[in-house]
Parts: sequence; structure tokens; C-alpha cells
Amino acid sequence: MSSILISGGTVVTAAGTQDADVLVDGEKIAAVLPREPGAAVAAAADRIIDATGKYVLPGGIDVHTHMEMPFGGTFSADTFETGTRAAAWGGTTTIIDFAVQAKGTSLLATLDKWHAKADGNCSIDYGFHMIVSDVNDTTLKEMDACIAAGVNSFKMFMAYPGVFYATDGEILLAMQQAARSGATVMMHAENGIAIDQLVAQALAAGRTDPVNHGLTRPPELEAEATSRAITLAKVANCPLYIVHMSASQALEAVAEARDGGQNVFAETCPQYLFLSLDDLARPEFEGSKFVCSPPLRPKEHQNSLWRGLRTNDLSVVSTDHCPFCFKDQKELGRGDFSKIPNGMPGVEHRMDLLHAGVAAGRLTLSRWVEVSSTTPARMFGLYPRKGVIAAGSDADIVIYDPQARQTLSAATHHMNVDYSAYEGLEITGQVVTTLSRGRAVIDDGQYQGTAGHGAFLARGPNQYLL
Ligand code: URP
Ligand code: ZN
Ligand code: ZN
Repeated sequence: MSSILISGGTVVTAAGTQDADVLVDGEKIAAVLPREPGAAVAAAADRIIDATGKYVLPGGIDVHTHMEMPFGGTFSADTFETGTRAAAWGGTTTIIDFAVQAKGTSLLATLDKWHAKADGNCSIDYGFHMIVSDVNDTTLKEMDACIAAGVNSFKMFMAYPGVFYATDGEILLAMQQAARSGATVMMHAENGIAIDQLVAQALAAGRTDPVNHGLTRPPELEAEATSRAITLAKVANCPLYIVHMSASQALEAVAEARDGGQNVFAETCPQYLFLSLDDLARPEFEGSKFVCSPPLRPKEHQNSLWRGLRTNDLSVVSTDHCPFCFKDQKELGRGDFSKIPNGMPGVEHRMDLLHAGVAAGRLTLSRWVEVSSTTPARMFGLYPRKGVIAAGSDADIVIYDPQARQTLSAATHHMNVDYSAYEGLEITGQVVTTLSRGRAVIDDGQYQGTAGHGAFLARGPNQYLL
């Protein structure tokens, strides 16, 4: 085990910024040493990293990824190996991925299966949420065993009838169980039954292009499902976390519930902050690259989402990273938008895109760290091991150059997908070095990680509950 001194940088945490050196001993942060102007290096170490002019951040935590996820007759294109490597390039040091229960299978067998996919393959730490798609007496009982195994959050779907969809009754039962056990229910809030009717009408009328994916999933049906989920959670007294929020009307429902003192939380994703329905409407089937659910919205929604991040009605930014290649995967939906696999790549660029929001005056530096690292750690039971630069925490540290210029492109990104949703976008800021538990995964712009360094994180309960 060796020691590292990160000297000369500006430490940025959710609590503010500080000129300080950070001493790492083995896998942990040993000390944060405030620096007087002009003072000499304050500690000895095996290695000194000069972070002058750079930010020193707690590693990013992306609580919503789908590596090698079975979906729409295919699998998302990043494996745990390629996806965690790409995450590290972008300053993310922890992902929480979703184990997906297939109907008729057990939650515990599902968890074993996902452990087998990830074990030995990740270059950064990882945890799991559990997708519950089959609510019955056995699976309800198994939720407690999942919690004991470090999986404290359960995602359910009001969308995708016939696949992951759960009825209101099933959702209520799972919420009651989660409430008894101290777990959080995560919700994909779209009214899938109504959406399927709109999809059938569009296809029958010959409207088959990708833009119809957005037009058949109107914001009102996200808002309606969000409100219904909030009501069910209130009846069950269950903590609720709405995933991938895209619509301002849905955000209003969350804000009202939070104002009323309910344990309701929500995340959004960079694609909803930076992209819009115009991208889904790109010609020549290019729009398929932007098919995800909920869909990209008209631009007006973006301002509401940025405001929600500032007011904390949106607490977290995750990526919902679920990449499908344009060739052979998105192309499955040529001539029928409903067959385009849902999902977009993003795990590599979350920190950068949010930093672009800082540069544009939409978020403060501290809020950038809070929504991308500190709150995710608290929300999913990892704090203070993760999400903060403090003595005793894991040495998951990102050295970030706020002046560097980069152009996002499939030619240079590290995700295993043949397009970038942000092709050609020029942004300011870039990761220089990413440490995962004291080990340089990205070292001065070079990948030095190893598949298998990343460890499974057994998580505790949500740390925000009233
Ligand atoms: O389109 C999306 N969001 N794909 C991933 C699965 C999900 O619903 O999160
Ligand atoms: Zn979802
Ligand atoms: Zn997702």
C-alpha cells in the first residue's frame, strides 16, 4: 500500500471549496490539509500529484446504469468491463446498476446472475438495485433477503406493459413491503397502458419515424404516473425515488409532495438537460439515437429541470446509461419506432456535461459535486464511505481541469457504442486523473485501471428519510 499526496489543488465538496492538499494512505483518505498561500508541501508521500489549477473532487457516483442489460430483444452494448472503464474516464468511481428480474424468476437468483456478470470485470466500485417485474408472495419475501445482501432499492415500472409493467396493486404491495423493511422504491413513472394505445394509433396511421416515440409518450402521462406513484407511496408510507425525470409537469408533482413533507425524491439525466424532441426528429433515422424513455422533451422543459436541480426538488443527476449501437441495434426499429431499443449512452460524460452547466451559470461548483456524488451517496446508503473528501473516506478522487477544452465524439469516447449523443459538442473541463480507492484508474490522461479492482458495495438505507 502506498501513499499519495495531491497537492496544490482546490478541493470542491458539497460544503464548499477549499485550498487544501489531500493525503491518501492505501485505499483511504488520511487527511485533508488546508494550505496557507505560499506554504511548502505539508506532508511526505510515496507519490506527489501536482494538482495546481485543478479541482479535487469526490469521485462521481452514477446511481442509474444498465450494463449488458437484456432489453428489446438485444443487450445494451457496454459490458461491466467496458462501461466501468468509460465511467472512470469521465470521473465516475461508483456505479449502481440494475439487476433485472425476468418474470417467473426469483430475486435472489437474479442477484446471483448480476454478481456473476460484474464480479472480476469492473475497474471501479459498483452496487445493484433490483428491478422487480414479478410481484408475488415469494418475491415480496425475497426483498428482505436482497436488503440483507446490500440491495436496498427496488425499481418498478408503470411503463412497458407485458415486460416490466406492474399494476397499481402490485406496486402498492411492494411499497408496503419496502416500507416495512426500510427500503426505497424507485419508479419509472410513465402511464404505459395509455402510451401503448397512442403507439398503436400512430403505427396504424403510418407514423413510424423515431420522433413518434416522443409524440406518443406525452409529458402529461409522465406527470400522471408520477402523481399516482406519489399517492401510492403515501398510502404505503414508503420512500419513493422517481428515476429519469424529464417533464416539468412531473417535477411539479414531486415539488408539491416534498413541500408536504413526504419522502419523495427525484433524479434527472444529462440528456434531458441538454437534448430535446428536436433531436428525436432528426432525419434519416438519426433520431433513433435519441430514443429513450421517458422521451426527450421540447426544449422548454430544460429550464424547469435546471431550476429543480438548484432548488433540490431534483436531488440527483444520473445517466440512465443504456447504450445500443446505431448499427444493428437501433436499426431494429427502422419502419417501426416502437421496436427501437430504448436507451442512450452517457456514463462517460455526466460530470463534464454538468460542469458545462456550472460554466454556463446554471449550477454552483458545490451543487455540481452534490448532485453528482454526495447526494447519490446519501440517497443510496454509501455516505460517508463515498461522496466526500474527508479523512476516513474511500480515496475515490477526481482531479479535474476546469480550463481544458474537449469535443465530445464517438471517435474519442470510451463507451462501447458507435455514436455519441453529443457528437461535436465543445465543452470546457476534463478529467485528468481518477483514483478509485487510492488506485489510479485514469492517470494523467492514461487508462491504468484493471478489470477486477472494482468491488461490490453492500449498501445501507436511504439517509434522507424524514
Ligand atoms: O430508455 C431507457 N430509459 N432505457 C433503460 C431502461 C429504463 O427504463 O431505465
Ligand atoms: Zn426506467
Ligand atoms: Zn434506466
